[in-house]
Amino acid sequence: MGIYGEHVLPRVINVACGMKTVAPLRRRVCEGLEGNVVEIGFGSGHNVPFYPEAVSRVAAIEPADVGWRLAEKRVAAATVPVERSGLDGQSLPFADDSFDSALSTWTLCTIPDVATALSEVRRVLKPGATLHFLEHGLAPDEGVRRWQHRLEPLEKRLFGGCHLTRPVVGLLTAAGFEITYVDIFYEDGAPKFLGADSLGVALSA
Ligand SMILES: C[S@@+](CC[C@H](N)C(=O)[O-])C[C@H]1O[C@@H](n2cnc3c(N)ncnc32)[C@H](O)[C@@H]1O
Repeated sequence: MGIYGEHVLPRVINVACGMKTVAPLRRRVCEGLEGNVVEIGFGSGHNVPFYPEAVSRVAAIEPADVGWRLAEKRVAAATVPVERSGLDGQSLPFADDSFDSALSTWTLCTIPDVATALSEVRRVLKPGATLHFLEHGLAPDEGVRRWQHRLEPLEKRLFGGCHLTRPVVGLLTAAGFEITYVDIFYEDGAPKFLGADSLGVALSA
């Protein structure tokens, strides 16, 4: 992966994802999580302070060692056990029907085979369990989409394979999830091409 991918990028992500302005979005997406939770693309643990009381434990899936190390203080301060339990959302080391909820924030953009990752999340969720998602992707407006397509190759090179044009809701429904709630919006203060977010809950039917 190289020094940039292994050491620099996780630190850049830690700062970019740690901005206080997105705290209200993290709080919203974590609402309703319960029981045994799997979080894919855990990063440096910025969602940890927002896990609701109904969560009993969290299995964190994160490939970047530096990201996990940067999460140390947040994990130590967590009110529930948080364990790094896997390295790749495309291959989850759990039995079928193991989890009550799943969480993914700004991660589906980066996982290389996102369809496989979503089918893995579905496999490990109990029937009727929910995936809570907050993801950036293809914008609702054609003008913004044009810029996203132009800038995507650069984005991928700079940010570890991050795509700008993935259709979040389409990917979830193609994977067999049923969307029970979704809010699609541009993030305040972020460039539109980066911040076309989908925040919602999908049922593993
Ligand atoms: C933009 S960051 C978001 C981190 C975190 N979810 C947050 O909201 O702060 C994307 C994360 O996905 C992780 N990632 C990349 N490939 C992955 C994979 N195959 N499986 C799981 N996570 C992956 C990256 O290491 C990074 O931590």
